[in-house]
Amino acid sequence: MPATPVYDFDAPVDRRGTDSSKWDMMERAFGVSPDDGLAMWVADMDFPAPDFLQDAVKGLLAKANYGYFAGYETFLDAVQWWMQTRHGWTIDTDWVFTTFGLGNGLAMAIQTFSAPGDHVAILTPVYHEFAAKIGRTGRVVTELPMGTEDGVFVLDFDRFDRLMTGREKMLLLSAPHNPAGRIWTQAELSDLAAFCARHDLILVSDEIHCDLILTGHKHLPMHLAAPQIADRLIMMSSASKTFNIAGSRTGCVTIPDADLRARFGTFHRSLDISPNLLGVTLTRAAYSQAGADWVDQLMPYIAGNAQLFNDGVNAIPGLSAMPMQSTYLAWVDFAGTGMNRDEIHDRVYRQARIAATPGHTLGTGGETCMRFNLGTQRARVAEAVARLQEAFSDLQ
Ligand SMILES: Cc1ncc(COP(=O)(O)O)c(C=O)c1O
Repeated sequence: MPATPVYDFDAPVDRRGTDSSKWDMMERAFGVSPDDGLAMWVADMDFPAPDFLQDAVKGLLAKANYGYFAGYETFLDAVQWWMQTRHGWTIDTDWVFTTFGLGNGLAMAIQTFSAPGDHVAILTPVYHEFAAKIGRTGRVVTELPMGTEDGVFVLDFDRFDRLMTGREKMLLLSAPHNPAGRIWTQAELSDLAAFCARHDLILVSDEIHCDLILTGHKHLPMHLAAPQIADRLIMMSSASKTFNIAGSRTGCVTIPDADLRARFGTFHRSLDISPNLLGVTLTRAAYSQAGADWVDQLMPYIAGNAQLFNDGVNAIPGLSAMPMQSTYLAWVDFAGTGMNRDEIHDRVYRQARIAATPGHTLGTGGETCMRFNLGTQRARVAEAVARLQEAFSDLQ
């Protein structure tokens, strides 16, 4: 058996000018120049594609055939293998639909399981596109703002019960949670399942961050946590965050329940969505032993970045970084500075020259916060900490 390669996540990488949206659109989005700015917004990582992905693409090139393709079953087998070996979840390949990424999967689920004017609930602050897709499809957002306890997000279902309008048909969950990577416990997921049953909601469990788990934590697939609500559960996953292949626009929507699957399948077929060759090739190569070895080396590195960043940020009076359990998306609350949003942004964008995601775009609870992407070389994280400490040095 060939030895497992040792990956060097510290190797400097310059993605400027590579058509990376994170780097090549930061100036347009935030006025932060890529010449001396740090791109810490869009959720993708600055690491180069590892050899097992490059080899898969080279294999594709070598065939010089980009026509209609066979072999889709081997992609489904790889998805099944990955869910079994990495998450202990046994799935049937017939349960899986391929989508143009999970944004597409979310939009299709909303349109399948609700009608225009219906409400869709989300736990805020959360990945901004949840609300955007609900709005774009003519549905209405019901925000269920999370609280914090000991600095981490918590769910208060009594409060959520009171916030429901009776018009909600669905709830979109980010599990683990974007931002900050909170991993929901068995007890929380059981309570959420009961909440969905109580309010007769379809639950979409978006588990796109489920492979990016920091040391000492474990992701619990919603279907394993709450099999009692399988008849109202849609699960979504993708190799795109884990392996930095979001450009291949490929995701999986997995639906064990036959009735829900038939409904989703009808809509999916009506749009004539079929897998694309590059996405299938990359995902199949990613969901492999080589991919597992790469993630197993990546996550301790991300944990080191998280520790460096959070310790450095927490040393600044008035700033507080949420402890991370997964993902590379740090969540920093600036409330303790007493500054308004414009001043915080002026210091982060203009003085520190960091393009980070403004928290208010993630919904209620995010107003005083910003999200920083730590999926990058350690040296860049250290530079970000130094710049933030400098930009807020008058608070020391
Ligand atoms: C929770 C969540 N869902 C979906 C997506 C988007 O997935 P895709 O690129 O496959 O559309 C993201 C991207 O950041 C995300 O964080």
